[in-house]
Amino acid sequence: MRISQERFKQRRIRLMEQMAPESIAIIPSAQMITRNNDAEYPFRQSSDFYYLTGFNEPDAVLVLLPGRDAGETVLFCRDRDKLMEIWNGYRAGPEGAICDYGIDEAHSIAEVDNVLPQLLDGMLRIYYSIGQHDALDQQIRHWLNLIRSKARQGATAPTELVMLDHLLHEMRLFKDEDEIELMRKAGEISALGHVQAMKACKPGVMEYQLEAEILHYFAMNGCRQPAYSTIVGGGENACILHYIENSAALEDGDLVLIDAGCELDCYAGDITRTFPVNGCFSPEQKAIYELVLKAQKACIDMAKPGVLWHQVHDESVRVLTEGLIELGLLTGSLEDEISAGGYRDFYMHRIGHWLGMDVHDVGDYKIDGEWRPLEPGMVMTVEPGIYIAADNDKVDARWRGIGVRIEDDVLITDAGCEILTANVPKEVEEIEKLMAAG
Ligand code: GLY
Ligand code: MN
Ligand code: MN
Repeated sequence: MRISQERFKQRRIRLMEQMAPESIAIIPSAQMITRNNDAEYPFRQSSDFYYLTGFNEPDAVLVLLPGRDAGETVLFCRDRDKLMEIWNGYRAGPEGAICDYGIDEAHSIAEVDNVLPQLLDGMLRIYYSIGQHDALDQQIRHWLNLIRSKARQGATAPTELVMLDHLLHEMRLFKDEDEIELMRKAGEISALGHVQAMKACKPGVMEYQLEAEILHYFAMNGCRQPAYSTIVGGGENACILHYIENSAALEDGDLVLIDAGCELDCYAGDITRTFPVNGCFSPEQKAIYELVLKAQKACIDMAKPGVLWHQVHDESVRVLTEGLIELGLLTGSLEDEISAGGYRDFYMHRIGHWLGMDVHDVGDYKIDGEWRPLEPGMVMTVEPGIYIAADNDKVDARWRGIGVRIEDDVLITDAGCEILTANVPKEVEEIEKLMAAG
């Protein structure tokens, strides 16, 4: 499924309802990024821009003008161009923007320097996220100066600049029905990609070959790109939190940590599983794994409306620290190890993050300086981990080089939460059984 044009329109209306009178919002698309010479990286639309338009081309600018009689929604985009389309692909053009995307008024992007100053003239307030698009930042400064220079002819420049991020990102934080359906599907495809990797894993396989198994599964199920660079870390590579080299051979007796998620119509899945390369956990690997799993389940149990964001993290710290003390990896009391942060040698990241169109999605974590409560419609990850550095000589040698993270995506619901990524096993016995059948 895809988000409908009606839904994109509703979002633009909701955003405009929150804007002050006599105001204008300016939202740019993403740009193509050069890889070298005339080769470019795969295009990924700006999430803010896509959220409001569903328009998937570079070189476009959306302008919202609440209350404007001549049309509240204006889009600047690339003209249709027979030659360019033969070389580089289809373009909607301003005509297509109106017919297919419900835009009221559309112009060639080549006209933006002529038309946008006219739209800005007389407005009191601009909503724009400065600092994310150098070229447009400069253009806006130039347009403002142009209007100022015409003050004697009656032109009036806006007097206030408001960061658009807050209004728009608060909307994006709460997922609507269409988004929830897409994220359920992204969670399911991501989960089954992990199952595929578990089945294909054996000693001697390269980390990048497991990555390829997952990406192949994603593509065969409608997701051309992952939501972020896939992490496949065998042995002590699992202790590098964002290891994306994926260049080593997987060794008999090691664990492998895979952090991978697909992107479906611009929505992310984000799953981590850790499992033994040869299909059987050693006693030390199992002990660490069971502890991380216990922490993860405790945190998922807590994820419900009204619980404050940081309370979920604090619960992961409590369960992990208690377990590390039981295993002899930490030697102080629970209280001391938590207050002095002893656990940070093993658990150095937070419990998770918002998830949506971006893997580390937008939305504030605090309101007026206080951690915010979870609310229905939010999607977050729950991803505790323990990483025992290979050179940590404070612990017995048998523990060193073990890295475990377990990550699922949860939707906060009225009743608690729904796990969107439940289709990939995480119990020790289930993983061993799946790999034995592999
Ligand atoms: N995949 C990045 C993260 O889990 O935060
Ligand atoms: Mn992840
Ligand atoms: Mn994550």
